[in-house]
Amino acid sequence: MTTIEPTTRTPIALWRPPRPDATDRKEVLEATARMLHNGRLRDGEHTATLERALTVHFQRQAVAVGSGMDALELLLESFGIQGRTVLVPAHAFPAIPALAARLGGHPVPVPVDPASLAPVPEIADRPGRPIVIWIHHGGIVADHAAETIVALCKRGATVIEDCAYVLPDDAPGGPGTWGDAATFSFAPTKPLASTGGAVILTDGALHAARLRERRTHSGVEHLWAEGAQLLRYRGLSEFDALATHTQWQHRPETAAALMAVRDAYDLALIAHRPDLLPAGRRPQPTWGRYLVDLGEHHRATDVKAALADHGIASSITAPAPWYVYPTLAKHRPQTSHSELTALLERTLALPYHPGLTAGDVDRTARALLHVLAPKEQAS
Ligand SMILES: Cc1ncc(COP(=O)(O)O)c(C=O)c1O
Repeated sequence: MTTIEPTTRTPIALWRPPRPDATDRKEVLEATARMLHNGRLRDGEHTATLERALTVHFQRQAVAVGSGMDALELLLESFGIQGRTVLVPAHAFPAIPALAARLGGHPVPVPVDPASLAPVPEIADRPGRPIVIWIHHGGIVADHAAETIVALCKRGATVIEDCAYVLPDDAPGGPGTWGDAATFSFAPTKPLASTGGAVILTDGALHAARLRERRTHSGVEHLWAEGAQLLRYRGLSEFDALATHTQWQHRPETAAALMAVRDAYDLALIAHRPDLLPAGRRPQPTWGRYLVDLGEHHRATDVKAALADHGIASSITAPAPWYVYPTLAKHRPQTSHSELTALLERTLALPYHPGLTAGDVDRTARALLHVLAPKEQAS
């Protein structure tokens, strides 16, 4: 392997939203001008168009909301969380168990499978009828996901599929269709990005209408009269609905561009270090992150810093189990997940976005192989 010196070359970003082409740019700018002219900045035609497109695609009711956290909050409220156990993957984004606790639930961390970073299949053997937040971490869809989620639902659990990082797949019956409801986020770091937003997928027009009503806090005195507390607007702006719908329409191109990036990583990186993708973690069209396992000799924090010296961004999506944080420490399990802690310390997200060129991937792969090489030779 040739030696690579730290470089001042163009930085390589971890993620960049898909870029609109000239035609889209023109259409989006014209639609934005119309929107500003008519003053309909929320709850307008773009929100309705986005909801219609997702309703047709998933064959479920789509309700557009302000963020992935708004989506989870609206669902947890509507399913009734007070006093219930909420199973949350132990490496989840800490805001998720914190939200569950704030709404009166009892978040319980569940172990995750090292290949898919999804909850282990044994989650379905637990007694009771918990709420389960099933995260398809980084858009990785576990081989056991569909079967386990369906088994949980049959046993009376309420399953919310958190597809925040999933690029929706065109194959029918995919992630987002297995649980009682699902959420997709449109935050700037997600595969369909705007300045922020999300969609809830659910079954039943009544449930959807109820969620849609509760996403606003204005003109809903009838809900207050029923005992609701609606503290803020949880809908989507028309700008974000427009931006997301444009990206939704170009999903196939985004998927194809990401496929090319995965192929480039295969050649430049995985061919040399197949162990970076643990057995069972095969590239999938749904990935929103390219997550590698650096192995026992390397810590993600060190490798991230070393890649940064080469101008290459990377990210540690979950540095530690969420119960290590003071506000969540009371939910710490009796037996802590020491293997999970080790796994998270070795897991790194590499640059992965539709604008990445084969040259960028090659440079990233060469830098990573270089960073990984010396320590292993010494051991
Ligand atoms: C798994 C998961 N769910 C939900 C969210 C929250 O999404 P948002 O930023 O749209 O509120 C995130 C944020 O990164 C996430 O990683």
